Amino acid sequence: MELIYAQDNLNLGQMAARWVARELLICPDLVLGLPTGSTPIGMYQSLTRLCQEGIISFTKARTFNLDEYVGLAADHPQSYAFYMREHFWSKVDLQVENEDIPRGDVANLDEECQRYDAAIQKAGGIGVQILGLGPNGHIGFNEPSNNMEIHTHVVNLSTETIQANTRFFSDSAAVPRQAVTMGVGSIMQAQKILLLVSGESKKDILTKSFYGPVSTAVPSSILQLHTDLTVITDIKL
Ligand code: GLP
Repeated sequence: MELIYAQDNLNLGQMAARWVARELLICPDLVLGLPTGSTPIGMYQSLTRLCQEGIISFTKARTFNLDEYVGLAADHPQSYAFYMREHFWSKVDLQVENEDIPRGDVANLDEECQRYDAAIQKAGGIGVQILGLGPNGHIGFNEPSNNMEIHTHVVNLSTETIQANTRFFSDSAAVPRQAVTMGVGSIMQAQKILLLVSGESKKDILTKSFYGPVSTAVPSSILQLHTDLTVITDIKL
């Protein structure tokens, strides 16, 4: 694991964008796994700037998002599809047919999960997976549990996650109780992983993730087993 310290959240976004830009310059048809949440917003802004300045291009790249809320259509302001359009997809030269995210508003979610895994596989798997870290150690929406799901699946969100994500909704009752998430298998099969962690409130979970045992109770701890992991954080460990 390579641990890179950023001065603050702004600096973290810039460093993450430069890291991704380098990967994209080496491999223009990169398959990227993308996160949402507040942490990567600065990275998306910096990547947008680099793209608009003509330094990088996403025209040959493909992207797969980690997760989506069940029941929210892509035009719902709190959906992750909406977030991606607002912060990234509409700002860079990525081809629409190369953006993918699980749909949470379809009647047959099992079929959607299978479609998503097949699309990732058809693209050759994830080249670079960027991750945020949930306050309980979730990656994507893989919540603490007794087992780890390998494939894309529907998950019941934990009380802690519902509470943490209430800040994006009018109140906690409005937060969907389920989500579709990429499984731990697709994440761990990525050739490289970049984990972004920001804010003192995540110090404990970041410490548990990398200095505690590998355990399904802390899903992010599985990242200890990945052979090409970079962590960029503004938390001093
Ligand atoms: C959500 C997402 C995760 C993300 C996490 C952390 O729950 N499903 O993929 O990593 O939030 O978000 P934040 O960066 O806002 O703390």
